[in-house]
Formats: sequence, structure tokens, C-alpha cells
Amino acid sequence: MLVTGAAGFIGSHTCVDLLTAGYRVVGVDNFVNSSPRAVERIREVAGPAGANLEFVELDVRDSAALSKLLAVTPVAAVVHFAALKAVGESVALPVEYYDTNLNATLRLVDALREHGPRRLIFSSSCSIHGDVDVLPIREDAPSRPTNPYSRTKAMCEQILADLCVAEPDWHVVALRYFNPVGAHPSGLLGEDPRGTPNNLMPYLQQVAVGRREFLTVFGDDYPTPDGTGVRDYIHVVDLAEGHRAALEHLADAAGFRAINLGTGVGTSVRQLLEAFGAACGHELPYRVAGRRAGDVAELYADPSHAAETIGWRASRGLAEMCRDAWEFQRHNPGGYDGAGA
Ligand SMILES: NC(=O)c1ccc[n+]([C@@H]2O[C@H](COP(=O)([O-])OP(=O)(O)OC[C@H]3O[C@@H](n4cnc5c(N)ncnc54)[C@H](O)[C@@H]3O)[C@@H](O)[C@H]2O)c1
Repeated sequence: MLVTGAAGFIGSHTCVDLLTAGYRVVGVDNFVNSSPRAVERIREVAGPAGANLEFVELDVRDSAALSKLLAVTPVAAVVHFAALKAVGESVALPVEYYDTNLNATLRLVDALREHGPRRLIFSSSCSIHGDVDVLPIREDAPSRPTNPYSRTKAMCEQILADLCVAEPDWHVVALRYFNPVGAHPSGLLGEDPRGTPNNLMPYLQQVAVGRREFLTVFGDDYPTPDGTGVRDYIHVVDLAEGHRAALEHLADAAGFRAINLGTGVGTSVRQLLEAFGAACGHELPYRVAGRRAGDVAELYADPSHAAETIGWRASRGLAEMCRDAWEFQRHNPGGYDGAGA
């Protein structure tokens, strides 16, 4: 398997899952949002199977490097994680986001057209739907992305769907993740974003370890049971297993398919704060601020399509997500490189 963005949060966990399931993996990354240490950790966590990881540092937009790699290393399928992913940053740097996310996908498709295989799993996001009218979110909900990041994901899905119409021998699955959190239970692999975390869970982890003073809760007046926003958090190890399930069912149908990877369970910010406090053994300081522009009250998946098509269901609950995220943060208070930011 070729895994792009292999050193990232979800990529690293997926590499471990694939290696321990017996696959050989070629990982690539340019470390724009990750550390080479993550590659060492993948090998360490995978144990003897870690020897089946080959890693190449490259930018996926570099056609020549990608072509050279695929020419000498034939792969059976590709999981394409490499992208920039911070919503707020994408508003400030739209050109960089369109450049990285669209061109990485286009150059990868070019290389696969030349060398094969025409089998691809694409990392998509529930955020392509924007503000939804109907919950839970099904795959056929309208696509109305509200920021440059989400637009890049919707555009890549469209490009891949059009490609599959023009060239029917492609097998492509876009996996739409809900809110990936947690870490590998070993405490060796986890989410270590560069700079200030963009997402709630890594921010909370850094508050718990004293790297940030308090959590800001954006809005406690939403029409939800406790007034705070509700999201569908999914354990990153469940997500990694979802990629393996999708790979194993890639051959089932030619063409383009979109599949949600979520739990179907909504959790509020307050509930997450409590669960994380229980996991780390102390209450976490927070302050309530006004709603953030673009945020919606509730988002959670209808995960039934994944169960029907790839036989996958999330099995890990909120307490496990918090326990494992805390375990990673506790063992790596300054992240992989120890420096913090
Ligand atoms: N984490 C989430 O909340 C979430 C939700 C939905 C979708 N996604 C998508 O899942 C994928 C993985 O997300 P993640 O949370 O692991 O993010 P991440 O930033 O931890 O991982 C992405 C990896 O891709 C690498 N990368 C970026 N541009 C590259 C390029 N041009 N060439 C080579 N490597 C490059 C980065 O260095 C990083 O290691 C992304 O496509 C993201 O958009 C993430």
C-alpha cells in the first residue's frame, strides 16, 4: 500500500494498522505538519511488522519524485491523506490550501494513471456538507462547504468522481471523517499539530498537560441539551480500521463511492470536557466565549452505509478516546519533538 501523509495523525495510525494486519506499506510525507519522529514511532508500535514500512520524504505535488517511486515500487492501492487541514488557516491562506490539496490529488492521479494502480482511498471530511438541515448526516446530504479547506475536499471528490466516469476502471472511495480524536493505546502515537491546535481535542490535551492555560468554549447558547456544540467524535484507531476495511472492499465496485466514518453518537463540548477531566484526573479550566462564525450546533453521522458496504462500525467510546489521548499527551507533553509551541 502507498500511504501519503503517512507521518500525520491519521496516516501514522493507519500505517500501524496496515502493518500489523500484514500489509507492506510505502509511506510518503513532506513533514509540513508532522515530525520524522512519527515515522520512528510507527515502526516501534508495529513491532516486527515495522520492518515492512518503507518511508520516502517527498512532496506529493512533485510529479517526478512520485513517478520515480511508483516506477520502482509497485503498489496495490493508495490511501491519500496528504493535505493541509486547518479550517481557520485556510481562510487566511486560501491559495496555499488550493495549491496543496488540489495539486497533491491531481499529481497523484497523474502518477497512478501512468504507473497504476487505479485504486484510491481519499481522505474527505463531513465538513463538505456545511450547515445541514437533516441529522444524522447521510452520504447523499447536499455538499455546501463554507470555507476554503472544505471546498478543497468537495472539489477533490468532484474531480475523482468525474475521473471515474471518464475512466471506468478506477476504484475510488472517499471516506468522510467526522471528528477524529484519541491516540494509539501504547501512548507512543497521537495528534501533535504544529503551532496552536485548531481542533478541540488536541487543545484540551495541551490544557490538561499545562501547555495552554484554559479552553475557550465557543458558545453555550446553542439549541443542544447543555447549550454547547455537539460533534461526532471517532477514535483514530477505529478510523484506521475503517481504512483497512475500505481497502479490502475497494474491488467490490468500480467507480466513485463516498462513505461516512463516524460513530453516529453526538457528544457536546461540556461532555467532552468532563470525560477528559475524568481521564486525566483533574478538572480542566475553561472560559465561555461567544459563538464562532461558521460553527453549527450539531453534527453527527449516519454510519449505516459503512456497515453495509465495507462491514465497518466504530467500537470505541468516549472514555477510551479520552484515556488514549491523555496517555499520548502525558508521555509526550511537548509533542514528538519535545519542544511544544
Ligand atoms: N483530523 C481531522 O479532524 C480530519 C477530519 C476530516 C478529514 N481529515 C483529512 O484527513 C487527512 C489526514 O488528516 P490528519 O488529521 O492526519 O492531518 P495531519 O496534518 O496530521 O496529516 C497530514 C499529513 O500530510 C502531510 N502533507 C501535507 N501536504 C503534503 C504534501 N504536499 N506532500 C506530502 N505530505 C504532505 C503533512 O506533513 C502531514 O503529515 C487530511 O487529508 C485531512 O484533510 C482530517
